[in-house]
Amino acid sequence: MSNIPIQTRASVRSGIASVDRYLEAGYATVPGMSSRFAAAVCGGLMRIQGGLGVTGPVVEIGPFEGRFFIALCHALAPGEVALGIDLFDWPNPEVIDRFEANCARHGVPPERRITWKADSRTMRPQELLDKLGGRRVRFFHIDGEHSRAALTKDLELATAVLAPEGVIVLDDMLHPGYPTLMVAVHEYLGRHPEMCVLAIIDRETVVAATKFVLCRTDWFKRYEERLLETYKDNVWPLGADFEPHWCLVLSLDTKLAEIV
Ligand SMILES: C[S@@+](CC[C@H](N)C(=O)[O-])C[C@H]1O[C@@H](n2cnc3c(N)ncnc32)[C@H](O)[C@@H]1O
Repeated sequence: MSNIPIQTRASVRSGIASVDRYLEAGYATVPGMSSRFAAAVCGGLMRIQGGLGVTGPVVEIGPFEGRFFIALCHALAPGEVALGIDLFDWPNPEVIDRFEANCARHGVPPERRITWKADSRTMRPQELLDKLGGRRVRFFHIDGEHSRAALTKDLELATAVLAPEGVIVLDDMLHPGYPTLMVAVHEYLGRHPEMCVLAIIDRETVVAATKFVLCRTDWFKRYEERLLETYKDNVWPLGADFEPHWCLVLSLDTKLAEIV
């Protein structure tokens, strides 16, 4: 038997008090599909960015009712904003009202957020930058349409507006329901050798699925070092092989197979 305990998801924190309060008391009450574990790690990543002097707005494609978006908003530094881009038509048109109400209920005031009812597939990078007053994005979460073509488009949009030191987080990676998303990621990495996968955040359930974190290759070491230090209890020892690049795997379950 391995003597490495399986982490409980509640024990993983971002290190930002307001994010962790929301994760504790609010996160599960907002309908959504991202895991609490991923939200804690992503909040922690935004804290790490703060320590490295990385500033700028946050963007999410597909905030839905705001579950993950609100966590990111609580990690913003003074003066920063978060932009939520969604069709806001699923499962009904009132979803935008529920998004606004959830943000207000969980402590995200209107001046910290921009709600944009729009289709990311037809959005041009300059339109997005205009929404942000020209500021480049430090944290971009992509959780919109789950097709290979849409992810390809969303990845190019995110890359075009990203700060050089920014990160892109992709939801529902390695998901049994969306196998072609991985094809889009590999094709993207082939087109963008300046980008790499920084970390894989393992899933909690099939709904609260795995996320990939991407960054520029020249920022990889800085981020990796700090993630390793912050989430040392969640590092799955073997890491992930992107041939030839290796990256961190963060998981609630860090066991290896028992072979003897
Ligand atoms: C799986 S839900 C996102 C869940 C949410 N991010 C969370 O963590 O709880 C996907 C969202 O993407 C939105 N969406 C799908 N296609 C889109 C598009 N082309 N442009 C903008 N939003 C889109 C949907 O309306 C939906 O709200």
